[in-house]
Amino acid sequence: MIKISENIQLKEVLSSDYEFLFRLMQEIYTPAYQHFWTDEGAWYINSQYSKENILKELLDKKARYYFILFKGKIIGNFRFIWDEKLEGLPEEKQVKLHRIYLHPKTQRSGIGKLLLAWLEEKAEQKGYQIIWLDAMNEQQNAFQFYKKLGYIYYSHTFLPFELMHDSVRKMSQVYKVLH
Ligand SMILES: CC(C)(COP(=O)(O)OP(=O)(O)OC[C@H]1O[C@@H](n2cnc3c(N)ncnc32)[C@H](O)[C@@H]1OP(=O)(O)O)[C@@H](O)C(=O)NCCC(=O)NCCS
Repeated sequence: MIKISENIQLKEVLSSDYEFLFRLMQEIYTPAYQHFWTDEGAWYINSQYSKENILKELLDKKARYYFILFKGKIIGNFRFIWDEKLEGLPEEKQVKLHRIYLHPKTQRSGIGKLLLAWLEEKAEQKGYQIIWLDAMNEQQNAFQFYKKLGYIYYSHTFLPFELMHDSVRKMSQVYKVLH
């Protein structure tokens, strides 16, 4: 267990947690992204949080996968990958923030900001120069959040998923230089 603040902790996801994680993400992903999809995101959740994919992501030695706890209760997930590089950026030491999802009840109360500050500090201490991530342009909540925290546009792509609405396919790579 990692203590981030008085009320916030990180708890490692274990392979035995796969079913719990799947259900949690059905609850969290759906309200935030259902309007992106013709099936309300069911296909995406089933693929990202299948037992097979969760176990695969847990095997990656460079990645850390946590549940976020608020006052002892699980309210989200948080995953990052050391040494995952954004193509084209010259810095050697980069970390990718892969997933950060908070339950709607706990959004907009400073938890995301605190978690990113913790990751940035940890990365800096370990000599990392860059944090980067993929953000969906049409998910304004998350996009504004990263912008507010100082993340800068680098590049973008358009996701090819068949069940995704055309108008929301744009995904940007944003980054922050650490000092
Ligand atoms: C995106 C997310 C991680 C942000 O975490 P959070 O705890 O809700 O954000 P914080 O409360 O720490 O916000 C920090 C600052 O970002 C900005 N911000 C956050 N949400 C915002 C929004 N909806 N619109 C505009 N600015 C926003 C604000 O400036 C905020 O500071 P303030 O509340 O003092 O004004 C969280 O809301 C979330 O999990 N959303 C749903 C899932 C998701 O889209 N995840 C991202 C996948 S890439």
